[in-house]
Amino acid sequence: MQASRVTTSSPAVRQLRRPAAFPVVAGLAALLCCAFHVEAWALSISQMTTNGRANPLGIGSDDLSLAWAIDSDTRGTVQGAYRVRVGTTESTADVWDSGRVVSDRQIDIALPADLPLRPATRYYWQARIWDGNGTESEWSAPTWFETGLSVGDWSDAKLIAHQSSAARSAVQASSPGALPLFRRVITLVKPLKSARLYASAHGIYQFSLNGRKVGDQFLAPGWTDYTRRLQVQTYDVTAQLHAGDNALGVALGDGWYRGKVGLNWPRIYGDTLALIAKLRVTYADGSVEDFVTDESWRSAEGPFVRADLQDGESYDARREQPGWDRAAFDASNWTPVAIVSGDSNVLVPQPDEPVRATEVLPARSRSEPVPGEYVYDFGQNLIGFARIKIAGKAGQTLRLRHAEEIHRQGEQRGRLYTESLRTAEATDTYTFARDETVTYQPTFTQHGFRYLEITGAAVPPEVGDVAAVVLGSALPNTGDLRLSHPLLDQLVRNIHWGQRGNFLSIPTDTPARDERLGWTGDIAVFAPTASRYQDTRAFLSKWMDDLRDAQRADGNIPAIVPQPRDYFDATGVGWSDAFIAVPYSVWRATGDTRILRRNWDAMRRFYRFVHASATQDGNLLEEGRSSWFSGDWLTLETVDRLAEHRVIATAYFAENTRMMEEMAAALGDATQAAEWAALVPRIREAFVTAYRRADGSIEIGTQTVYAMALGMDLIADPAARAQTAAKFVEKLAADNFHLKTGFLGTPWLLPALSRIGRDDLAMRLLLNEDYPSWGFEIRMGATTMWERWNTIRADGQFGPVEMNSFNHYAYGAVGDWMFGHLGGITIVGPGYRRFRVAPLVTNTALDHASCRLQTPYGLVSSEWTRNGDELRFVVTVPANTAAEVLIPAKTVDSVRESGRPAASAPGVAAAVAEGERVRVNVGSGRYEFVVRRAP
Ligand code: BGC
Repeated sequence: MQASRVTTSSPAVRQLRRPAAFPVVAGLAALLCCAFHVEAWALSISQMTTNGRANPLGIGSDDLSLAWAIDSDTRGTVQGAYRVRVGTTESTADVWDSGRVVSDRQIDIALPADLPLRPATRYYWQARIWDGNGTESEWSAPTWFETGLSVGDWSDAKLIAHQSSAARSAVQASSPGALPLFRRVITLVKPLKSARLYASAHGIYQFSLNGRKVGDQFLAPGWTDYTRRLQVQTYDVTAQLHAGDNALGVALGDGWYRGKVGLNWPRIYGDTLALIAKLRVTYADGSVEDFVTDESWRSAEGPFVRADLQDGESYDARREQPGWDRAAFDASNWTPVAIVSGDSNVLVPQPDEPVRATEVLPARSRSEPVPGEYVYDFGQNLIGFARIKIAGKAGQTLRLRHAEEIHRQGEQRGRLYTESLRTAEATDTYTFARDETVTYQPTFTQHGFRYLEITGAAVPPEVGDVAAVVLGSALPNTGDLRLSHPLLDQLVRNIHWGQRGNFLSIPTDTPARDERLGWTGDIAVFAPTASRYQDTRAFLSKWMDDLRDAQRADGNIPAIVPQPRDYFDATGVGWSDAFIAVPYSVWRATGDTRILRRNWDAMRRFYRFVHASATQDGNLLEEGRSSWFSGDWLTLETVDRLAEHRVIATAYFAENTRMMEEMAAALGDATQAAEWAALVPRIREAFVTAYRRADGSIEIGTQTVYAMALGMDLIADPAARAQTAAKFVEKLAADNFHLKTGFLGTPWLLPALSRIGRDDLAMRLLLNEDYPSWGFEIRMGATTMWERWNTIRADGQFGPVEMNSFNHYAYGAVGDWMFGHLGGITIVGPGYRRFRVAPLVTNTALDHASCRLQTPYGLVSSEWTRNGDELRFVVTVPANTAAEVLIPAKTVDSVRESGRPAASAPGVAAAVAEGERVRVNVGSGRYEFVVRRAP
């Protein structure tokens, strides 16, 4: 897609312009179309994003990339050209005018690197486009992005800490009363125009202005390797300030900085909690005044007695200092803060969506398994904390414990099952200051739970007074799949729930036990599915920054990122490969090359490491990179794991090379793409020579190696492939058509079956309800994905206690296949620029499926309903994209579209019958196909 530039002279066209003449075919299509759409020719722009986000506040000012979707009532709309303008006020172009650019590109329109963008400034931008016929849209409504502070802007702000806390030893720092509050009063002498607060901390902070929480974020500044990057959040606080005195108040908790991280690893970054902030006030007269953290602040110990992400929060209301964050408060007995050393070069604007409360779920029921122990059930395993309204007496302490499960049998029946949490205490306490009714929710912790236990209450709260606040990085939801089969529909929802909370600042493995780490392998297998459900661009791009921070000199990365320094250094195949698989998945799902551009050098360094490892023996077999991992993870097969590892590792080498080739081509590096394109078949051949036996079976013979060999297309020769496919089916038959794959094999299992034409077997595996299967989990009451196939056994006993989580998204990787085959939508060209719609309608388990994907190009959807002999099939194709639709029908004549024979319907091209299906090609628009006597 080469762009050429022509500047138009008159940008301010208010009317839609039609071309003087347009091609006859398009004209006919338009005329037909006009008969049915009153507002035909409406052409406009929506879904405008900057760096994958709508109106981002406080992002970095380099590497900015724009995107938009096109709304059009006309079938077959394409973009022929665009024009973008960027200004410091709405509807101006004082920063940049692209001129008219002849290009069909609308995603990742990079702003020129040399634009003089200032920090802490809002910029407005608009776009207009010309369609393929030369019709011109109006300018879009203005949208904006606002830059955050640059490193240089922090020179006057200091990192401040509570005096005694700074002096305390590591052990004492966690003793009661250790958590500090900070305050300062500022006086605004002139009328205010706008104000921004920029803040970050060692620890996690909650900022308030004049007694009111700032923003709607939780757990800021989020997790990064704080020695490399510490994120700064930007808040628009204009409405929270007024002329005269204003109080700034901040509470700090331990967070990832000082709290427990991973497997009971404490204080991985430091002992001293500290705050850094800048409030920038712009007065009505245009003058600007900054207020920064410095010696003028005071601090004291507050009511947060303990605040740990894993162990929980203890809040002692007796230690509250009413009005501490209001201007009138007397802080004379507070101590001046200490200034601590810190590197302001690590401060970066947070690029992705903040952690927010995304939903509040009411409790559904209450039980009392033993006297005085009240257990509330939210009906859903989730990540967040509880909000309770409860009465108590002065000095009384409530204890809130959290668990994903309750004991299902025996003496413990109905009580919390917390053994799987390992050392995570997941316990919050609240101590009353006086006799009163309060509403309490913690500030500085997060739990993975479905059940809440309250003890220490004289009178337990009513069910209606207990809710769960769901936390997660607030990525926009993009995908929705509804299926008429209740179990499969539940599976779709379980996968999404696992993603919602495990995407919490970083992609984590599990939210409940003492782990909650950025395991690279988990997200590597889950990223394609994740990118169906949500727009992952900003979130996973931020995590790719974390990967670059963790990259070693040899190009490799550890298996956990951010890496808890000094605690874990191992890595291996399937895990570090996230460096390639994650950006590839995001780009495939969104068509946005920004994540590739940003990481390309680092990805290439990683790939060179992989390549060097696989070629060191003079062949193309990956026999190394085993280190800590070998074979598939948590597989149910008992085999020589090192032997399986070798097969898997070479398959990964081929797949990595294939992905790198596609990405090099997308970035315009044809030479590099050609080199890798030539290498892929050679690696595949080496795989076949080494691991495919003469009878067609694959060495080691696990489901995983078959799924990879066939799913990754490693066998080029059709006859050999068919022979191996038969062996795969034999293997599944020997396993009674039940899955046995672990983390690495599962994503390939159903895709491999579909590739060999056995959708029927894929469905069979998916529909299984006995152990081991996805359905079994649901039958056993799962509301998220389990870590193990036997996390709960058929007899109701829990699986191996040392490592057993009820909320691990890796096995949810099947979601991508479900969107692709049951929803029916498969990506052909990145971002659904080209896609295939071919839902599996022949399986009698389903008579309806609806799949909606809000892609960067607009809504892609497929909805089918079977009603007796008739099949109704509605497909939506966004402007500037095209789809191949495979309609379940034996003849072209049996298909009608919007009441007309499909073959002659406007916008429908190349209707061809192919066995049980009719293939049509369509451009943008909404198509309603009806098939009589569907197969
Ligand atoms: C984590 C995983 C991870 C694995 C790797 C587990 O403890 O929870 O999901 O990928 O270790 O060994």
